[in-house]
Amino acid sequence: MNIVVLGPPGAGKGTQAKRLEERYGLIQLSTGDMLRAAVASGSEIGQRAKAIMEAGQLVPDEVVIALIADRIDRPDAKKGFILDGFPRTTKQAEALDRMLAEKGIRLDHVIEMKVDDALLVDRISGRYTCAKCGAGYHDRNQKPKVDGVCDACGSTEFKRRADDNAETVSKRLEAYHAQTAPILPYYRAKGALKSVDGMAPIDDVTVALGAILDGAARPKAKAKPAGRAKAKPKAKRAGKAKAKAKKRPKARKKPARGKRKARPARGRRPASKAARRSRKPARRRKK
Ligand code: AP5
Repeated sequence: MNIVVLGPPGAGKGTQAKRLEERYGLIQLSTGDMLRAAVASGSEIGQRAKAIMEAGQLVPDEVVIALIADRIDRPDAKKGFILDGFPRTTKQAEALDRMLAEKGIRLDHVIEMKVDDALLVDRISGRYTCAKCGAGYHDRNQKPKVDGVCDACGSTEFKRRADDNAETVSKRLEAYHAQTAPILPYYRAKGALKSVDGMAPIDDVTVALGAILDGAARPKAKAKPAGRAKAKPKAKRAGKAKAKAKKRPKARKKPARGKRKARPARGRRPASKAARRSRKPARRRKK
């Protein structure tokens, strides 16, 4: 199963992608994470992206398209992926379509997480992650079970993103509405877009996503084969036959026409064999 998760900064794309990863055995491909890793490594791409990201703008299309093209080719993406933060422009969406078509990969779902802008600044400014394993937390909405200790790995070190400040967040939101929201009609026109309420509590959003993904994972009813229907397993057949027998009263089996016994007339005794034999055969009518 291959999924695209769309939504404004702070919509919960990363939070839910992590959960879907675990539940469906998929891999989360976040262009934001890839770019942050590039910045941390000091690579050429990282050096190019750093200032752009800190300004809350989008990194050039060709850079992220190249990142994703390379990432999708790796063996761990073969089992299915969740694209988080990509595509973000119409050009990226078209490039993704071409890329997948060339590789013979199908996109199963494009899911939009809807959240009002007013909520996002609070969500993003309260966000932090474990410095060791990357597990995500929030000052109010998603605290670790033990204060200051990561639930996932026990680390006590946490970090906040450089672009998670009120000023940059409003720039990121502007970029979302101007450059990313226009790709929603692109996917809607293809009949691929589904939406979930990203304002709901985190667990409820997971349930809503699961309903979309499980609904589609269920095999569609197959058309009946033109020839003989496939025999049902014995146990099932026996069970069904029993149920039918319970419902309907037993019909008395009629003997074949020729073999039917003549009913004796009321009050008369049935004729003996000898008497029946002595009876003359009925005259045939002349034509
Ligand atoms: P990226 O890292 O992709 O950031 P983003 O899209 O701005 O999204 P976020 O990661 O901030 O939010 P999220 O939706 O994942 O929310 P989260 O789950 O963390 O991109 C960063 C930058 O990289 C971009 O600005 C750009 O410069 C560049 N870039 C990346 N991809 C690019 C591309 N394709 N093209 C060009 N440039 C690109 O949740 C947020 C917080 O809210 C968390 O604390 C969480 O606990 C909490 N929360 C989540 N859900 C709920 C809920 N339902 N209720 C209450 N709290 C919740």
